[in-house]
Amino acid sequence: MRMIKSAVVLGLAAGIGLAGSIAQASDDPIATRQAIMSSVGAAAGLGGGLMKGEIAYSPAAGKAAIATMNAAALTFGDYFPAGSDQGETGAAAAIWENPDGFSAELAKFADATSKAFEASGKDGPADVEAFKAAMGPVFGSCKSCHETYRKKN
Ligand code: HEC
Repeated sequence: MRMIKSAVVLGLAAGIGLAGSIAQASDDPIATRQAIMSSVGAAAGLGGGLMKGEIAYSPAAGKAAIATMNAAALTFGDYFPAGSDQGETGAAAAIWENPDGFSAELAKFADATSKAFEASGKDGPADVEAFKAAMGPVFGSCKSCHETYRKKN
């Protein structure tokens, strides 16, 4: 169990590094934003596993999930230039039709993840209850944005 958990955390750390290096070469905004969202998906998998007790809780693992989501929330919105609605993307046309609405969802995501990051302190949320309290609003923001701004299939 401990080994599995460490592997997930290391994978996430690598994911953050990856998003950072891709972000510098922003010639492919679709691939970049998908890589960022993939790291969010991985962090959600870790977070869900911790909440359900499938992965033994540790403050460091909780913090890794939160930090990954926060980094993603603060960069994701930079990769939706005009024209990038075309191609292999799950991004819905609504993003470009209603940029203010999309910005509001981005702001909600950034706000929820920043609050969770602050609440988690230096070492991460002390126990799984604290982790759940911090992550609740973060998980709420996924559905709220996907509903309107991500293609259905
Ligand atoms: C502000 C809007 C927004 C929020 C918040 C958001 N997403 Fe997304 N997500 C998107 C969009 C848009 C795409 C499609 C990107 C594309 O294909 O260009 C996407 C794609 C994804 C993907 C597929 C990535 C891939 O490999 O192509 C996953 C997984 C995902 N989101 C998980 C999550 C989870 C989990 C959360 C919450 C913790 C979340 N998202 C929050 C907008 C959002």
